[in-house]
Amino acid sequence: MTNTNEHNGRLIVVSNRLPFQLLEKDNEIVLKESDGGLVSALKSYFDGDQHGGTLREKWWIGSGEFPEKRWKKFAKQDNATGSFQVEPLFIESKTYNKYYNGFCNATLWPLFHYFPSMVEFDETTFEAYEEVNRIFADKILEFVKPGDVLWIHDYQLMLVPGMVREQMPDITIGFFLHIPFPSFEVFRLLHTPWKQKIVKGLLGADLVGFHTHEYVQHFLKTVQMVAGLDHQFRNIMLPDRLVKADLFPLGIDFNKFHNASELPEVKNERADILQNFNHRKIIFSVDRLDYTKGINHRLSGFEFFLEQHPEWREKVVFVLVVVPSRQIIAKYSERRKMIEEQVGRLNGKYSTLHWQPIIYRYNHLSFTELCALYEASDIGLITPLRDGMNLVAKEYVASCQDKGVLILSEFAGAANEMGEAVLVNPMDKREVASAILTGLTMPKEEQVQRLEVIQQRLKDYTVIHWVNDFLKELAAVKENQRIQATKHLSKSELLEIGVRFKRAHRRHLLLDYDGTLVPLVKHPKLAIPNEDLIRLLNILSADTKTEATIISGRDSKTLEQWFKNVPVNLIAEHGAAVRMKNGDWQIEKDLDQSWKPLIRPTLELFTQRSPGSMVEEKGHTLAWHYRNVDPELGFVRSRELLDSLHHLLRNTPLNVVDGNKVIEVRLSGIDKGTVASKLLEGDDYDFVLAVGDDKTDEDMFRALIDRAVTIKIGPGNTAAKFSLTNQNEVIQLLNQLLN
Ligand code: UDP
Ligand code: G6P
Repeated sequence: MTNTNEHNGRLIVVSNRLPFQLLEKDNEIVLKESDGGLVSALKSYFDGDQHGGTLREKWWIGSGEFPEKRWKKFAKQDNATGSFQVEPLFIESKTYNKYYNGFCNATLWPLFHYFPSMVEFDETTFEAYEEVNRIFADKILEFVKPGDVLWIHDYQLMLVPGMVREQMPDITIGFFLHIPFPSFEVFRLLHTPWKQKIVKGLLGADLVGFHTHEYVQHFLKTVQMVAGLDHQFRNIMLPDRLVKADLFPLGIDFNKFHNASELPEVKNERADILQNFNHRKIIFSVDRLDYTKGINHRLSGFEFFLEQHPEWREKVVFVLVVVPSRQIIAKYSERRKMIEEQVGRLNGKYSTLHWQPIIYRYNHLSFTELCALYEASDIGLITPLRDGMNLVAKEYVASCQDKGVLILSEFAGAANEMGEAVLVNPMDKREVASAILTGLTMPKEEQVQRLEVIQQRLKDYTVIHWVNDFLKELAAVKENQRIQATKHLSKSELLEIGVRFKRAHRRHLLLDYDGTLVPLVKHPKLAIPNEDLIRLLNILSADTKTEATIISGRDSKTLEQWFKNVPVNLIAEHGAAVRMKNGDWQIEKDLDQSWKPLIRPTLELFTQRSPGSMVEEKGHTLAWHYRNVDPELGFVRSRELLDSLHHLLRNTPLNVVDGNKVIEVRLSGIDKGTVASKLLEGDDYDFVLAVGDDKTDEDMFRALIDRAVTIKIGPGNTAAKFSLTNQNEVIQLLNQLLN
């Protein structure tokens, strides 16, 4: 595996916006850092990594929120942007607005944060989204060189990985989503072509990262439902390569926040704050202006607390900082109005001549102010209604020294790692009020104990670990892809197999039937073996050194009918029934059948809803075939059926196999791997060949990994050692062995 630190190629970060703005003051250009979690994380990494000492060149591609002329003037300065170099994009404002204020923040943002009623569905904004993603892709393609690593960020650029991949099939692309990936039931509200394009775009990456396990699961299910692609150990099997989805919970620069208390300016600021508030208890929150942050609900919780606990009035202040964001969008400006009205009403209701319950500020905070407030406050009240991660919660805990209670929404991604915080449902004002009381009355020792546990965790997984982990896994995925790609059986490997076959004294050929010995056809009954195949099998088995077995999911009756007089072993229903070439059928009689009437109605329901499909009952298996259903409908129905079955079969000894246009339910423990191993047991075969095309054959490949030459037919990820492109090549291979 490649070590991240040994890469020669450049690391190119791509995000919607650059991490800074350029302001012109008194004829001088000054750089001002942008707000938000994404920028804050990556900037920390870049700045920190300078001291970490990796040699790789770092670039940042993003849109500039300043005139091109200003950039040109600024870029002339030495080391203008510090630890990384910048390639800005300048996008025509009308298109950018439709993209940014439209599809990004009026469609994707509310939908992915579970606010479906706020979602706008506007074809023209999606067109702008495509257009801007295309502009990003073109810029990247102009700039990127083989060996570079591209790391594309967030929901604004979900089509870019696919667009770049089309032009550069081998390039390394990582993608990270900084917001929640919603459940499929919510994602599916998007128009079908949008859904398809987004999934296709994301699958252009090699590694897709999320903050939590839940978001990974939602994504995997979405890929299954929208693109029909299955996954194993979070690897998604595309026809030509595998893509990995995984979780990487974003961390912070722990030391930067923890050690800030030592900075003289922070010390002064903190002392001022404590004095100004007359040593009252301080509750603090800071968020971008956003309806997802739950600021109105938070205020209601605080109001309920004051109402229920008059003894705390005049003893506590709530410092509420709201950072301006996306102000052009109506839902945001409305939100500001709602917050300010509520603050005004609350202050009006409870203020006295000496005290005002809420200190409200609508502005950015400097780093000094932010750290001083984190450290001075007794409670960090962070209650988003939904948040991908929420870095403020982590920064707050990191900044606390000898006191502090974090009250955190259970709907923030960060809650997964911060169980020692006081977790609340932000919608419930009673719960928020009671958490405030808990926080205000919590003994100091308990506060410190809880803080220390979380702080240790934050120290152990900082933003540097996050980046290194992501890049390391990206390199591992590339390596895995490379191994998969070299599997196609080459001429020389074929020759070598031929030589080994010839020299062997005891050979065993394990051959799957459908898709391997015969092509896949519309109806299972039509896949009758032709004369050539029967002749070939007869010749192969005529050699006393060779044993041949047809190992199939078919029922015993059909196999018997087709291969009655052929001297091959037959395995039916993945191992539930076996007929050795000179013997009778041995059928596993004691297998439980009682599950069939419980599952059958579900399959029949899907048959009714999908014209052309059918249920096949075999001795020990129930199968739902949909090869003859209209492909689009069949695909959608098969995903739905899979989903229903996964729920239905939970905690049962049954498993479900998503085969080639067939979904099968069968008892666990009966599979081609188990039966193939049994078959080879006790014999001294010195040449074993196993060939198959379907998921059920993977059990056989895995079981025979050290014993056999394993070959998978067709595309997709496989445990087999080699692959062949299509079924014709199997017949050619068998003929070649004979010659
Ligand atoms: N932050 C900022 N400017 C401010 C106040 C805070 O840039 O005036 C930073 C804060 O330190 C944190 C980030 O903005 O790192 C907010 O990230 P979070 O994940 O909490 O929320 P997001 O804004 O990404 O939704
Ligand atoms: C969140 C998003 C980022 C975004 C930031 C600020 O953190 O995940 O992609 O940059 O909010 O939002 P803005 O629209 O101002 O870039």
